[in-house]
Amino acid sequence: MKHLILIGFMGAGKTTVGNRFARELDWKMIDTDQRVVEKAGMPVTEIFSKYGEKRFREMETEVLTELLLESRPAVVSVGGGLPVQPQNAVYLKKMGTTVYLRAKEETLIGRLQGDKTRPLLQNGGLEKKIHALLNERAEIYEERADVVLDTDGLTLEQTVGTLLKILKPDFFH
Ligand code: S3P
Repeated sequence: MKHLILIGFMGAGKTTVGNRFARELDWKMIDTDQRVVEKAGMPVTEIFSKYGEKRFREMETEVLTELLLESRPAVVSVGGGLPVQPQNAVYLKKMGTTVYLRAKEETLIGRLQGDKTRPLLQNGGLEKKIHALLNERAEIYEERADVVLDTDGLTLEQTVGTLLKILKPDFFH
């Protein structure tokens, strides 16, 4: 089994690109956030406020290990913090090919303005929070990725087209 895994910061477009890419390949699309939400029966913000980030991270890892058991390959969009957790690195490696959708800090700030769904970015100071988290994470995303794709200035179609070109032919045999 070889999944295509999309990693990157919040607002990088993982889910949007993942959905479009899955349609292109006629593969299933799996979103780890969505799986965690289904398991918990509540939105991400509520998981964080009721049980804390640590529990959320444990649930993410549970979901990841379940994905290793999927028999058919899927496009998997993972939450922005998932690749950062050291315990997940081995699972990501086993699961397939990992693509880092990289976007500039300004792009992310623009996309995440007014967001109410990401607990790590609430209560003001959005730019500082993004800056600090990106500083912590950028290198880790690069380390975890088999492919790094710069998405700034690309349309959705261009991003998907570029990805297809980069991955072919090795990925699809
Ligand atoms: C998080 C990213 C979110 C979600 C949670 C924590 C993070 O997913 O998992 O709010 O730590 O970066 P997206 O990257 O899909 O927004």
